[in-house]
Amino acid sequence: MSNYKIAVLPGDGIGPDVVKEAVQLLEEIGNQYNHQFEFVYGKIGGVAVDEAGTPLPEKTVEICKESDAVLLGAVGGPKWDNESPELKPETGLLGIRKALQLYANLRPVTLFSSLIHSSPLKREVVLDTDILIVRELTGGIYFGSPRERRVGEKGVEVIDTLFYTEAEMERIIRKGFELAQTRKRKLTSVDKANVLESSRLWREVANRVSCDYPDVALTHMLVDNAAMQLIRNPRQFDVIVTENMFGDILSDEASMLTGSLGMLPSASLGVEGPGLYEPIHGSAPDIAGKDVANPLATILSAALLLRHSLGLSEEAYAVEKAVEQALEQGFRTHDIGGEWERVLSTTQMGEVVRGNLKAPI
Ligand code: NAI
Ligand code: MG
Repeated sequence: MSNYKIAVLPGDGIGPDVVKEAVQLLEEIGNQYNHQFEFVYGKIGGVAVDEAGTPLPEKTVEICKESDAVLLGAVGGPKWDNESPELKPETGLLGIRKALQLYANLRPVTLFSSLIHSSPLKREVVLDTDILIVRELTGGIYFGSPRERRVGEKGVEVIDTLFYTEAEMERIIRKGFELAQTRKRKLTSVDKANVLESSRLWREVANRVSCDYPDVALTHMLVDNAAMQLIRNPRQFDVIVTENMFGDILSDEASMLTGSLGMLPSASLGVEGPGLYEPIHGSAPDIAGKDVANPLATILSAALLLRHSLGLSEEAYAVEKAVEQALEQGFRTHDIGGEWERVLSTTQMGEVVRGNLKAPI
C-alpha cells in the first residue's frame, strides 16, 4: 500500500461543497487501488481572515509544504470586498502560489462530447476539442519592475515591465515539450516575436530546447493569430506553451470552447515540492451553501493531482472516465443542465461519479 499526504484548502463560498466531493472521490480511489490518502486541512482566504486574521496563515503554508499535493476550492466573497489588500482573500491564493514556487499553470480544455451544446460556439467547430494550455505563472509583465505611475513633462505616465530570464523561459518551455510527449506530440509556442524582444528570446529558446525533444513537432504562432485560430479551428492544437499574460488571456478564451466554468480543472506545478490543484471557477457566493454547485471541475482537478503529483495516471484516467460516464448517463448539475430533467445536487453528482468508479460500464 502506498501512502500520500494531501493538503486540503476548501476556502470560501462553494469551495467547501465541491472540495468535499473531490476528497470523497479520492477516498474511493484509495479503496479501489489500495492507496492510503491522508488529508490534512488548512485555512485560506476569507475564512482564514475571519479565524486567524490573515488570508494565508503560516500554518497553512507549512501543511502544504509537507504534503505531496494541495487541493484547493476557491477563495473570496462580498464579505471581504472592502478589506485592505493584505487582508483580501485573493492575497492568500497569490501567496500560496508564490510560497510553493508554482511556475507552470496547466489548463486542459477538453470538450466532453455529451456537452457539445453547452459551448456558445458551433458544434462543428468545437467537436473533439482537446487542448492543454501551459501558462508561465511567476514571471512576465505581472511581476516586472519598474512598475509605476508618475507625472512627466507631458502629463501622467505609466510603466509596466515585461521581464524574463532565459532560465525561466527554458523551464516552462521544457515543461511544454514534456507534456506534449504524453499527448499527441504537437507543441505550439505562442509569442509576439514580430514586436517584442522578450518574444524573440522565447522563440530562440524554444528552437534550442526542441533539439532535446525530436519526437515533438514544434510550431511557433503569434499570439494574435493564436487567439483567432483557437476559435476558428481548435482541433489543430495539442499543447500550447506561452508566457504569463498571453496564457492568461488565451486560457480564458479557450475555456469557452467547452462552455462551462463548472467543468474546468487546473494544475499549478513547481520545480519540486507539491503541485496545487483547483477548479478555475471562483467561490460563487450566489449559490454557496445551496448544494447546487457543479463539483466536476474540482473532481477533474483531483484527477490532475493523481496524474501530475502522484504519478497515478491509471487512477487519473479512471476518474475522468467516471465523469464522462456520468454525463453520458444524462446526469447534469444546474449550470450545465438548463431545462434538463435529471438535474442533480452537488452531493448527488459526487455520488454518481463515485458509483461509476465502483462499477464502470
Ligand atoms: P465565480 O467563478 O465564482 O462565479 C461566476 C458565475 O459562475 C456565478 O454565477 C456562479 O454561480 C457560477 N459558477 C461558478 N462556479 C460554479 C460551479 N462550480 N457550479 C455552478 N455554477 C458555478 O466568479 P465571480 O462571481 O466573478 O467571483 C466570485 C468570488 O470568487 C469573488 O470574490 C472572486 O474574487 C472570487 N474568485 C476566486 C477565484 C479563485 O479562488 N481561484 C477565481 C475567480 C474568482
Ligand atoms: Mg484570468
